[in-house]
Amino acid sequence: MDNILVELKNINKVFAGNKVIDDVNLKMKKGDFVTFLGPSGCGKTTLLRTVAGFYEPDFGEVIINGKNVENLPPYKRNTPMVFQEYALFPYMTVFDNVAYGLNIQKENKAVIKERVEKVLELMQLSNLKDRYPNQMSGGQQQRVAIARALVMNPDVLLLDEPLSNLDAKLREQVRVELRLIQKKLGLTMIYVTHDQQEALAMSDMIVVINKGLIHQCGSPTDIYFRPKTKFVADFIGTTNFVEGSVKDRTGSEVQVDYEGSILNVISDEPIKINEKSVISIRPESIKLSKKNKSGTAISLKGIIKHSMFLGEKVRYLVVDEYKKEWIVDSFDSGKEILSGEVIVNIDKDKPHLIYER
Ligand SMILES: Nc1ncnc2c1ncn2[C@@H]1O[C@H](COP(=O)(O)OP(=O)(O)O)[C@@H](O)[C@H]1O
Ligand SMILES: [Mg+2]
Repeated sequence: MDNILVELKNINKVFAGNKVIDDVNLKMKKGDFVTFLGPSGCGKTTLLRTVAGFYEPDFGEVIINGKNVENLPPYKRNTPMVFQEYALFPYMTVFDNVAYGLNIQKENKAVIKERVEKVLELMQLSNLKDRYPNQMSGGQQQRVAIARALVMNPDVLLLDEPLSNLDAKLREQVRVELRLIQKKLGLTMIYVTHDQQEALAMSDMIVVINKGLIHQCGSPTDIYFRPKTKFVADFIGTTNFVEGSVKDRTGSEVQVDYEGSILNVISDEPIKINEKSVISIRPESIKLSKKNKSGTAISLKGIIKHSMFLGEKVRYLVVDEYKKEWIVDSFDSGKEILSGEVIVNIDKDKPHLIYER
């Protein structure tokens, strides 16, 4: 693959006898927004700090711009990091906070002024340049922290859950801004979050991590529609798992038996006839109806156990004739909310086979 800016080769890290990073291999392209996504404690921060140079891997290599950076301390890697808790200098103005790194490098004063002012404008902070951190909101302080990293013209910008301390509305707004700036400047970014929505909304590539292991690396649509493991399917949004055995397969068309009904699944995985398989079916790929519908993959009789009106959708809990529970999302929430007996119709082409060995 061309254009690789950051490469991690066989990275392993052990803390107090626990393997926190388990043989991570990863290639990140120049100009990409890459997200490390996983539950709290899975090793995201440790991996990011390893790229930044704050941690040494016990084994493995970090390669940036084709060079092993083993012997470079963090400040020489040109990979500044933005933290959840901003970490601004409290006794410095916004301008001085942003200028700090350039001052350390003993840049020419006029150059510093020009570069800082340009970044402040980009981050919409020009009118706050004389303020001190305690005179600003959390969102503004985080913008300063990002500006302070950007002004260094980083090769890679590293961000560790930078929006977690902001309230939901603001978080969404800063997400959009950050992505626009990243695209405009062609920046390479590695972004850490435990928030699936955030990862889906912002990334070119998502790296899903659990217990120090990479489960999957792919585009947001890959990760959502074609999860490689049960963990990924379950962690990214909500899903229904169906277990069945493979009845037949012709090339990539696989037929899976669920209680005598056949689910047609497209899959290139090397699964064989009679093997057990797990199928993931998203709640929005299921339609409830009162009468039989045609053109569905399978139809099952069910009873609605619970319904929740959530604004843009209604979420139903339905028990089918084999006592299996299904989560179903209906986006016709303006219509009547169903109750009682229903038919559970699974959309064709939507079920996804998970092959885990
Ligand atoms: N400096 C450290 N010393 C010992 N254990 C650590 C240290 N840093 C992290 N850990 C442990 O490593 C695991 C991964 O932590 P971390 O990378 O911070 O996870 P995440 O950022 O995904 O929440 C956790 O079990 C954590 O307790
Ligand atoms: Mg962390």
